[in-house]
Amino acid sequence: MLDQTLEHIDAHRPKFEGDLMALLRIPSVSADPAFKGDVRRAADWLRDHLVKLGLTVHLIETNGHPIVYAESPPVPGAPVALVYGHYDVQPPDPLDEWQTPPFEPDVRDGKVFARGATDDKGQMLTHVKSIEAWLATAGKLPLQVKLLIEGEEEVGSEHLGEFLKENVERLACDCVVVSDTSQFAPGVPAITYGLRGIAYFELKLIGPKQDLHSGVFGGGVANPANALAKMLGALVDADGRVTIPGFYDDVADLTERERQEFAALPFDEAAFKSQLGVEHLAGEKGFSTIERRWARPTLDINGLTSGYQGAGAKTVLPAKATAKLSCRLVPNQDPHKVAAGLKKRLEELLPPGIKMKLVEHHGAPGVVFPLDSPYLQAAAVAVEKGFGRRPVFIREGGSIPIVNTFASLLNAEVLLLGWGQNDDNPHSPNEKFSLDDFHRGTRASAALWRELAAIKK
Ligand code: BES
Ligand code: MN
Ligand code: MN
Repeated sequence: MLDQTLEHIDAHRPKFEGDLMALLRIPSVSADPAFKGDVRRAADWLRDHLVKLGLTVHLIETNGHPIVYAESPPVPGAPVALVYGHYDVQPPDPLDEWQTPPFEPDVRDGKVFARGATDDKGQMLTHVKSIEAWLATAGKLPLQVKLLIEGEEEVGSEHLGEFLKENVERLACDCVVVSDTSQFAPGVPAITYGLRGIAYFELKLIGPKQDLHSGVFGGGVANPANALAKMLGALVDADGRVTIPGFYDDVADLTERERQEFAALPFDEAAFKSQLGVEHLAGEKGFSTIERRWARPTLDINGLTSGYQGAGAKTVLPAKATAKLSCRLVPNQDPHKVAAGLKKRLEELLPPGIKMKLVEHHGAPGVVFPLDSPYLQAAAVAVEKGFGRRPVFIREGGSIPIVNTFASLLNAEVLLLGWGQNDDNPHSPNEKFSLDDFHRGTRASAALWRELAAIKK
């Protein structure tokens, strides 16, 4: 039966790609209230699409953006798979760096360029299309699949957690399938068994009651921009270690086995540097680049605002300065503990004459999943079927906050099956997704349903 389903996927490639383009045209930017109606349009599009496949579909309202939830019929004796994905996207800025407009998908060299192409519309849709192909050929799926597609992943999944807590029985499943990560390299598919967590902050420093002439007042009053630069600079030391008190106390060390496995991956440091346009790589002393990106915690400034930002020069002593900053966390760091430590450290560093406010945004711990699971082995077989090569097992540095909750609340295994590439430019200008990867991911997903169904409950 699977062969016919795979043939259907091959034969309907242009149609499936056309459906992806339609979804990419909807600017579902979750962070910006100006796009609220468009976010809903994307949810409606998905709902209608899933209804047409014959699934039972609900559009679930939250205090934020809606959740799309769908189910195929139960299959006694077979496990239940829950697909999680997100239909929201990051803001497209800076717009002038896009070669073609972010919400007018353009195909160049076999890749579709659009905001959300890889993160996560293109990856998520592979599971919808594999279900479509199964239903068109076999008439039914070999196991029950539940789909949970949210519209707030890029803003911290604030309302999805509540929904999960209130719907544990409805969402009951044996494994959760997520395609929102990356392959290791072109031609090297991967299954991701660990992600970093995150703790995101906004720091505001307040000085004099209004902006001042820097000649008349400079030297006589503390400058919030100077203070901010000094304080932020002190948060990471010369060895690349974060100076928040207790920051490393709970960090789970890399095992010797993992270090060897990471070192054995075909990582091309020169190609990596040239991809990023840098001559040197940087980070915590004593660890390889892969280790630092996947399994060590960090602190990065995400945005800085203060003083005059217009053309030319303006001699001003700004009244305030703000920074957005975040830590990537690894197991077993607690985001709240990190927040408390950061606050303490910043208070120590704060000079007299400046007031500070620290706002704690979203947070989530890092995760590592066990490798010795029949679901993971089934997924490896399916990935090989779709991509023609057995996947490597990797960790990644990004975060998908809700995966922690899936593991703990639903007691389900999480399968992170990423179809993206490291240079797909998620969150950046010219985001893209290879249409070959879209196709291979759809084939792998179709094979996954058969492999998972064969696991006896
Ligand atoms: N899909 C990404 C996460 C990701 C990307 C994981 C690449 C692994 C490899 C997700 O959409 C994302 O961007 N997450 C945010 C989470 C944040 C907004 C809470 C992140 O990692 O910054
Ligand atoms: Mn994503
Ligand atoms: Mn993202």
